[in-house]
Amino acid sequence: MSEIKTLSEFIVERQGEFPGATGDLSQLLTAFRLAAKIVSREANKAGLLADILGAAGNENVQGEQQQKLDVYANDLFIRMMRTQGAVCAVASEENDDIVHFDNGGKYVVTMDPLDGSSNIDVNVSIGTIFSIYPRVSTGPKATLEDFLQPGSKQIAAGYIVYGSSTMLVYSTGHGVNGFTLDSSIGTFCLSHPQMTTPAEGTIYSVNEGNYLDFSDGVRSYIDDCKKKRMSARYIGSLVADFHRNLLKGGIYMYPGTAKAPNGKLRLLYEANPLAMLVEQAGGTATDGTRRILDLKPTELHQRCPLYIGSKNMVAAATKS
Ligand code: AHG
Ligand code: MN
Ligand code: MN
Repeated sequence: MSEIKTLSEFIVERQGEFPGATGDLSQLLTAFRLAAKIVSREANKAGLLADILGAAGNENVQGEQQQKLDVYANDLFIRMMRTQGAVCAVASEENDDIVHFDNGGKYVVTMDPLDGSSNIDVNVSIGTIFSIYPRVSTGPKATLEDFLQPGSKQIAAGYIVYGSSTMLVYSTGHGVNGFTLDSSIGTFCLSHPQMTTPAEGTIYSVNEGNYLDFSDGVRSYIDDCKKKRMSARYIGSLVADFHRNLLKGGIYMYPGTAKAPNGKLRLLYEANPLAMLVEQAGGTATDGTRRILDLKPTELHQRCPLYIGSKNMVAAATKS
């Protein structure tokens, strides 16, 4: 039988890869691991809450309002980080402003606590995405400057996909590793060591309902995909679409349009972390012309167009 490695063993084993690491980052990953298990449990009964338990006015037995899973996940990840100490502040898709912990932690985190919200109640894969940056400001509180660092400054990034199984995939800049939750024992085990993505793939993922709003270049790339009889796959949960394409080879696109020149996806919570992961796995991420990780954010909730996945496919989609 081959050796089983748990996520906690792996984190400890790799702690040394981190310059100046004092174990803080390991603790932080441990907090994410626990939050991921709890969200996974809740995601598994999301349909039950919405369709059966929610039928009596969306209240639980204590008479409290049932929380939507994205608010629940946001609160949970923030609570886990707050109690843990390495992170001094968080920027989340679900909060208008920075959430401060006032604890002197040396990292800041950005996150999309629940990606794919429109799929929560319909039993389709959803996810969580996170980035970790070093704090660069020196005053008593973290500032916007800490969060507006380009993605190239990320020291770790990852996602959790709550799918037919729950997986946690992350990188600290030394490759990408994936762990699958064995729910019978409640443990993440290394299932996808050193993940790499093919340079060429056969899957294109884009919301083709927006085809008429895309530029000529994007439309012609989509036409080429059809001529080549590629597979169209679009879940509508970025994490799940990204995860599939990472494993199989493919491209995910969320282009800008005349009405929404920066598309829909958020630079800090979605594009940057996945860009770090895809590059670590040998792929590419651009906004159509520039490398995502080089973009200098100017605001927390900034959006950007995204072309991400297999190297050759991203180059072909963005060549004009
Ligand atoms: P979120 O649920 O965090 O708001 O993100 C939804 C995003 C992303 O997950 C997905 O790929 C995209 O929205 C789908 O958008 P369209 O429905 O416009 O295709
Ligand atoms: Mn999202
Ligand atoms: Mn979200």
